[in-house]
Amino acid sequence: MQIGQYVLPNNVFAAPMAGVTDRPFRKLCKRLGAGYAVSEMVTSRKDLWNSLKTSRRADHTGEVAPIAVQIAGTDAEMMADAARYNIDRGAQIIDINMGCPAKKVCNKWAGSALMQDEKLALEIVSAVVSACSPHNVPVTLKMRTGWSVDNKNAVSIAKAAESAGVQMLTVHGRTREQGYKGEAEYETIAAVKAAVRVPVVANGDITTPERAKAVLMATGADAIMIGRAAQGRPWIFREINHYLTHGLMMDAPSRAEMKSLMVDHLVEHYELYGEFTGLYTARKHIGWYVQGMNGGEAFRGYMNTLESCDEQLQAVTNFFGSEIFDN
Ligand SMILES: Cc1cc2nc3c(=O)[nH]c(=O)nc-3n(C[C@H](O)[C@H](O)[C@H](O)COP(=O)(O)O)c2cc1C
Repeated sequence: MQIGQYVLPNNVFAAPMAGVTDRPFRKLCKRLGAGYAVSEMVTSRKDLWNSLKTSRRADHTGEVAPIAVQIAGTDAEMMADAARYNIDRGAQIIDINMGCPAKKVCNKWAGSALMQDEKLALEIVSAVVSACSPHNVPVTLKMRTGWSVDNKNAVSIAKAAESAGVQMLTVHGRTREQGYKGEAEYETIAAVKAAVRVPVVANGDITTPERAKAVLMATGADAIMIGRAAQGRPWIFREINHYLTHGLMMDAPSRAEMKSLMVDHLVEHYELYGEFTGLYTARKHIGWYVQGMNGGEAFRGYMNTLESCDEQLQAVTNFFGSEIFDN
């Protein structure tokens, strides 16, 4: 599996998720077998580049190559500038967001809303490719199957984007209208794969190794991308790789291993966000890790009462070190 000049270790990727797949989490996913991970989207609005949120997202210190940054916006020149800005800060691959249905993005006519305006979508792709080419930075595109059930134009956009120089396409098997409701369908992804020569990545509702294999087979895609199923379960990447390679399920991580992984994750998380924001934003990750575990729900409630990162880390260490809560 290759994106431009970058050869990837495998074809099981981590999806970009704003507020989730920050640098510490991406590093953990890669350590646990993700062949590739894309950053949370970075806005093309220059006035926000100096905000703490965007500058954190554009900081790739210690990230495992290739560093892939997703940009979102509605104006071709602004998107080209955003590509250059991120390349200057270490981006080695630029991904264009045409997949996000969030209101904040769509009201401004960005994200998956762009699929409704193919002309503008193509202008953006061409401008970003022109900005990236001199730096030898591949451009990729992430989109949905279309705007609505009656307007599934992923194939048309994929072909146009390929002609404009996009080097990989990711398709989430839902329309913009669906949001995250219903089930992802894979026929449209298969149709995109059949229509282009660049690598195609299938995404949507891949939650188990068996499903991963089934989606690869049903779509003929070159790779798969996992989003929500990796929340609190970053080892899903090695589990899927193991199944795809050996046809066997891997044992779940031991409690001791989970503890060690979580400690590494949290320490990096606190380093990136600092004491105040770190404490609050770590709660959702901890909640996902303990979801479904014996005592997990009570532990999640207890987390909300703690007021420092030290206390939080100690509580996690105690929880995973104890037998009382064992499954
Ligand atoms: C919390 C959250 C944030 C997301 N943020 C982004 C984003 O910034 N860019 C993007 O292209 N997709 C984003 N997505 C969509 C995911 O990348 C992915 O396409 C979608 O979740 C379907 O995959 P899954 O079923 O494996 O989760 C986000 C999804 C979630 C749940």
